[in-house]
Order: sequence, then C-alpha cells, then structure tokens
Amino acid sequence: MTRFTRSARASSRSGPSEQRAGRSADRSRLRILITAGPTREYIDPVRFLSNDSSGKMGFALAARAAQRGHSVSLIAGPVALATPEGVQRVDVTSAAEMLRAARRAWKDADLLIMAAAVADYAPVAPARFKLKKSAHSRVLRLAPTVDVLADLSGRRRVGQCVIGFALEDRAGRMNAAEKLQRKGLDAIVLNRPTAIGADVSRVELLVRGGRWQAVPAGEKPALAERLLPIFERLARGASTGRA
Ligand code: CTP
Repeated sequence: MTRFTRSARASSRSGPSEQRAGRSADRSRLRILITAGPTREYIDPVRFLSNDSSGKMGFALAARAAQRGHSVSLIAGPVALATPEGVQRVDVTSAAEMLRAARRAWKDADLLIMAAAVADYAPVAPARFKLKKSAHSRVLRLAPTVDVLADLSGRRRVGQCVIGFALEDRAGRMNAAEKLQRKGLDAIVLNRPTAIGADVSRVELLVRGGRWQAVPAGEKPALAERLLPIFERLARGASTGRA
C-alpha cells in the first residue's frame, strides 16, 4: 500500500491536525488519465485496420499509478488485459470513440499519459454489410483520424500536464522531438517497433527543454516504475507553475 493511500485513510477518522496532514497528502494525489492499446477502424462489420499494440505499457503505468495512490482513469482500446486494481476503465474501439472518451475524462485530469497506438487513418465509408469477394482489385479510401494527443494538448487548462509516446523505426530522437514540439507536450517517451506486444522494452525520455535520458531496459512494469516519478514531478511542476 502506498504512502498517499495510507494518508488519505488516516485523515478520514482523525483530528484537525491529522486532517490537515491528510489534505496536504491529498494534494499530491494526481488525477491521471492514461490511454492504452490499439484502436480498430472497421472496413465492414467483420474487418478492420489496426496494429499489434497489446496495451501492456499503458496498463503497467495505470497499475503502478494506482499503487502510488493516484486516481487513475484508463481508456483502453481492444486488448486482452485485466483491469488493474483501483483503476477506472473505459473500453473503446475506434479512434473517434477514444477521442470522445478522452475529451470527457480530460476535463477532470491533471496529467495525460497517451500510451495508446491510435490508428492514423480510418475508412471513409465503412460498409454496412460484409464485403463480398470479387475477382477485381478494390480501393479503400481512408481519411486521417483526429490526433487525440494533439487535440487534448490543445485544450489543456493551465496546470495540466501532457505526456506522449512516439513509435519510431528511423531517426527516432529527431522525429520524437519534433512530435513533442508539434503536439505541445511536456515530455515524450520514445520506443521502437520491437516494443509492440513485447513484455520487455527499452525507451528513452525527452522532457521539454531538457536532454534525452535513456531508461534502462526492463519489463514494462519496471519501466512504469521508473517513469512515473518523473511524470509526477512534471505534473506537480505544471500545477504550481514551475514546469
Ligand atoms: N496519437 C494520437 N492520435 C492519433 C495518432 C497518434 O493521440 N491519431 C498519439 C499517440 O498515442 C502517441 C503520439 O500521438 O502518444 C505519437 O504517436 P505515433 O504513432 O508515434 O506518431 P504519429 O503522430 O501517429 O505520427 P507518425 O505515425 O507519422 O509517426
């Protein structure tokens, strides 16, 4: 059990000074919104575009954040993972659904950790009925989905902190740094395609205005353990104007 949870419990049946301590401990309890897993963009009722994201990194972050005493909302694409203890989970399928759920939850959050692998394109006109096979080639028209991370970052209130992920197979640091700038992020976690679906990963972190830091390779829960204190510091800095 974490320090924060114990403090919150103690304050519920205590005297005035303990209540003050409880309130100050409460201030360090963040409301964290995490997205995880892939999205699916349906072509017809039984076929979709998606990717191999397993959701493991986002779920590991959600589990660890809840253990550290934070209030955690997890928006999950289609994944085969159990909800971590103490985490409030909303399941979505498409990028459009993730956007709607994330916009709703963002109003009441201090920190966004956007670990989801959102599809960049969706079919313009999904078929109502299962497409029949034919001997001819077919053209699938796709339209870009809304960038959930950029959208939420653009709607942020003063004091809200936004962390993105970047999946890069070439010029990783350069591309990720460009995403940090373009999407207005406080920090970005760079990972490689080998991280998709894997239990172990190696990531690098760039905090806005700082230098790249390598995070030692490890199981995703161990990475979450290393990343969360950094994210907490950024979020607390944002809320006190010291970001
Ligand atoms: N992202 C998002 N909405 C999208 C696409 C991406 O919120 N429609 C978020 C991801 O969750 C991640 C960050 O943007 O936190 C970067 O995602 P990534 O796939 O690395 O890059 P893209 O922005 O999609 O750009 P590209 O595919 O060209 O590298």
